[in-house]
Amino acid sequence: MLDVALVLFAVAVLLVVIGAIQPLAARLRLPSTVLLAAFGVAIGAASSGLSHGTLDGAAHLFGELPISSETIIYVFLPLLVFEAGITSDVRRILEDAAPILLLAIVATLVTTAAIGFALWPLGGVPLVVCLLLGSVVATTDPAAVIAVFRDVGAPARLTRLVEGEALLNDAAAIALFVVLLGMIVSGREPNVAVGAREFAIAFIGGAALGVVAGRLLLYAVAWLGGDRLAEASLTVALAYLSFIAGERLFHVSGVVTVLVAGMTVSALGRARIAPYNWEFLGDLWEQIAFWARSLVFVLASILVPRLLLNMDWHDVVLTAVLIAAALAARIFVLFALLPPLSYFNLTQPIGMAYKLAIAWGGLRGALTLALALAVSENRSLDPATHHFVAVLATGMVLFTLLVNGTTLRPVIHLLGLDRLSPRDRVLRDQVLALAYEEVCEAVRETAKQYSLSHRAVADTVGPYEAWIRAAGARDDAEGGLTGRVRLAVALLALANQERALVLEAWAQRTAPAGTIQVLLRNADALIESARAGGRLGYQRAAKAALSFRFGFRFAYFVYRRFGMARLLADRLGERFEVLLFTRLLITELIGFTGRRLHPTFGPQVAELARKILVARLGETAAAVEALRNQYPDHAAALETQFLRQSASRREMGRYQTLFEEGLIAREIYDDLRRSVDEARRAEARPRFDLGLETAELIGRLDLLAGLDETQLARVQRLLRPRFTVPDEVILRQGERAEAVYFIASGAVEVRLPGQRVRLEGGDFFGEMALLTRQPRRADVVALTYCRLLELGRADFEKFMAENPDARAEINRVAQARLEMNRRGLATAAEA
Ligand code: CMP
Repeated sequence: MLDVALVLFAVAVLLVVIGAIQPLAARLRLPSTVLLAAFGVAIGAASSGLSHGTLDGAAHLFGELPISSETIIYVFLPLLVFEAGITSDVRRILEDAAPILLLAIVATLVTTAAIGFALWPLGGVPLVVCLLLGSVVATTDPAAVIAVFRDVGAPARLTRLVEGEALLNDAAAIALFVVLLGMIVSGREPNVAVGAREFAIAFIGGAALGVVAGRLLLYAVAWLGGDRLAEASLTVALAYLSFIAGERLFHVSGVVTVLVAGMTVSALGRARIAPYNWEFLGDLWEQIAFWARSLVFVLASILVPRLLLNMDWHDVVLTAVLIAAALAARIFVLFALLPPLSYFNLTQPIGMAYKLAIAWGGLRGALTLALALAVSENRSLDPATHHFVAVLATGMVLFTLLVNGTTLRPVIHLLGLDRLSPRDRVLRDQVLALAYEEVCEAVRETAKQYSLSHRAVADTVGPYEAWIRAAGARDDAEGGLTGRVRLAVALLALANQERALVLEAWAQRTAPAGTIQVLLRNADALIESARAGGRLGYQRAAKAALSFRFGFRFAYFVYRRFGMARLLADRLGERFEVLLFTRLLITELIGFTGRRLHPTFGPQVAELARKILVARLGETAAAVEALRNQYPDHAAALETQFLRQSASRREMGRYQTLFEEGLIAREIYDDLRRSVDEARRAEARPRFDLGLETAELIGRLDLLAGLDETQLARVQRLLRPRFTVPDEVILRQGERAEAVYFIASGAVEVRLPGQRVRLEGGDFFGEMALLTRQPRRADVVALTYCRLLELGRADFEKFMAENPDARAEINRVAQARLEMNRRGLATAAEA
């Protein structure tokens, strides 16, 4: 029995080492995992008697620790994976879902297969075992590459792609690992079809279970009354519960379950968990994952020397083959699978240099070690398998850490990724100049306010101004910036300012979290696109921000397919808010062009930027109006809420000043603050209502105004409400007629070959094809958000038979339209 105090002592010492290694790694510019592994290996070597000396005491201590692969897998793996899930930006991953999923799953399969078949002829073990080893080393640790990418300012989307890919890659590799291990242990003949089915079940089943688990947590959170400690405890519990439930109860992949549970909480939690609490959760999980990751590394690498003790030359050759096969597979995925994806516009094209960097940066980490240990300690496997998997996987981890890890930065330098392109340098200089000018202005302001000496001001401002002058001179030397680049830089500054404004709104809680998230994403897209594509990029991103995105399309699909309107209504409510805030932001930015852009970029660029903003404002305002016209009540409710919130912010500010000036006591201040808080919390956000009550919509139709109660009741049963968005094609020319539509609100356009006719509330369309039993004569497209009443073909006949007045009117209108079209055709023929 181990002394508890000793174990704790060992863990505490490890924490000291782990803490000390961080600054050391930063100074040496090495991935910290490299140092952690080196430390672990040294301890392990000492404890297995490979060396004698000062480490012996420590080695003895750590050598006795009760660590096995089980401990590592059950204690640390759920934490690591859950953190990866909860900190991921799920919406962004969904935007790139196709390439990420494809890359993750296909890359895992390709790597596993490549390694398996490369080693099979040489290894002297069955193919499944070779494949098992392949799945063990198919997990990659993206931390090192991502850290370097961040440093050199790689495009954010590329970094996200690598991050998202690694996230799912690990899940896929572990699911595959479990399937292969199951095959070997059960002694079944390996069978691709069975394997594929098991893999799919483990993966998809785990994902489904994860969604359920994540949602359960969010339901539970609603009961906790915003207690952040309780919420945090539940998330830690969720990590373990979902892992164990997946593995033991439902026999799906526990890792996938945890990962998806984390992602679900990340996607839906921001809107349900209070912002402060959410930040707290983020910090807590960062800390937990840091400990878990570092401990796994050290603990697993302590075991490495023991594994490597009985490595012979044959193993060395096999390791070399393994490393080569893994690298080849990675290069194949990057160079053969990515191009078609970017060809179909599923992902941003990735430059050659970045691909090479990603290939070289495929470090193997804690996960590979943990899986290798799991194999080596599995009693149902024979010793040859133990030896094969453990030794080769460990060899590979060490190689990637010691060779790739230490050379990654030089390689990046060699590839030229850490040098700014001349254009980027100019861009950076301009942004800095802008920032420095602001700093100078602020300094002067402060000096004036406190009557500080001119000399102090000159001393402080001098270096900044010198820098600005030097940058200007550099500019002139480089032949000056063309107007286009200047404008691009100005727009980038605007996009950055927009982001800052959004963050300010967030800090002041002016907008709900979901809205802020969308606004931030839009601002990020503007920054990215302005950087990559200048003015055109900026305008493209601005347009994209107004379009209906994936979430909306999905909600609309659910509405049309399954008749569930709630999701769509929530999306529309969110859109409403986002548009209103975007309009506010742009208005503020227009002021910014005068104040800030003008002095730095000159009148011409400032004016151009202003024009672009004004155009953007116009488009945004039009989108707001389109919604407001159909839903004036909701618009009014949102505006009231906005004003109320700024009023209560002001009220709070007033109390705070009173308190800070010592005019009211803390108790009174706390009480006042609580009452404002409560009032704020009690205020429900207005929930968007599509307004699709059949009875209410019928009331808007003049055609049916004359019906009595019983007739109305019958008609109500025949009509079905339908909602459309602007530009949606409702009917297509040449289609078979299935229904007639009455417009309760909104407007549509009938697109006839030679002309366009606008129809509005109270009108109907789609009757001609039904009456004449011919195909549709024209396209009908929604001009606005519309609420329509749909009358199916069979019901149409019933309706016509039962309502003679309406029938006469419909026939009359149809006749007139036929006549009009005939005349139109005739004039067209004459012309
Ligand atoms: P249908 O032919 O079923 O589908 C296209 C619809 O466009 C048609 O029915 C009418 O409802 C409408 N439509 C066709 N021509 C005109 C017109 N000249 N004015 C208004 N609506 C029209």
